[in-house]
Amino acid sequence: MDIIYASNYEDMSRKAATTIAQQVIKKPTSVLGFATGSTPLRTYEILIEFHRQGIVDFSYINTFNLDEYVGLSSDHPQSYSFFMFKNFFRQIQLDPSRVHIPLGTALDLSRECTDYEEAIQNLSGIDFQLLGLGSNGHIGFNEPGVHFNSVTHVVSLSQETIKANSRFFNSLEEVPKKAITMGIKSIMNTRKILLLVSGEKKAEIIRRALSGSISEEVPASVLQLHPNTTVIIDQSIL
Ligand code: F6R
Repeated sequence: MDIIYASNYEDMSRKAATTIAQQVIKKPTSVLGFATGSTPLRTYEILIEFHRQGIVDFSYINTFNLDEYVGLSSDHPQSYSFFMFKNFFRQIQLDPSRVHIPLGTALDLSRECTDYEEAIQNLSGIDFQLLGLGSNGHIGFNEPGVHFNSVTHVVSLSQETIKANSRFFNSLEEVPKKAITMGIKSIMNTRKILLLVSGEKKAEIIRRALSGSISEEVPASVLQLHPNTTVIIDQSIL
């Protein structure tokens, strides 16, 4: 595992965007896994700048997002689909047929999860996966206690995550209680992982994830076993 310390959020985002751009330049047909949340927002902005400058051509990538809230349609302003199109995909003019995000309004959620895994396999797996870190150690929506063998599945969100995400909703009650998420095994099967760590209350959990024991109680600790993971830490949070 490579650990890189960035001097601040901007530096972390520039390093991350550069790494993603290198991946797409090296393999224009890359299958990229993306995350939502506050952490990668600036990274997406910098990638949009690269697109506008003609430095990177995203036309041939395919994408998979880690997760989506159950019950929110893709045009709901707090859905992860809405977030990705608004903050990234529309601005790099990515053909929506290349975008894969779990459908939170699927009538048969377990079928949706199986289909999602199948779609990943049909594109020969994910080349490069971007991750953020939850303050309780979650990656995707894999909350503490998740089985390391899990593939895409429906989860009940922890109280801590519901509270953390309530900042985007009018009230705590409005935050969906369930989500679809790629599982730990789906994440571990990706060929390269880039974990970004920034934001309040992450200092203690990143220490536990990187140097504590590998445990389902700290889902991100599993990344110690991934053969090709880079972590970029905004050291201003430490
Ligand atoms: C979002 C996701 C989550 C976030 C994590 C950190 O798609 O998978 O695991 O990466 O909750 O969120 P922020 O970046 O908002 O601190």
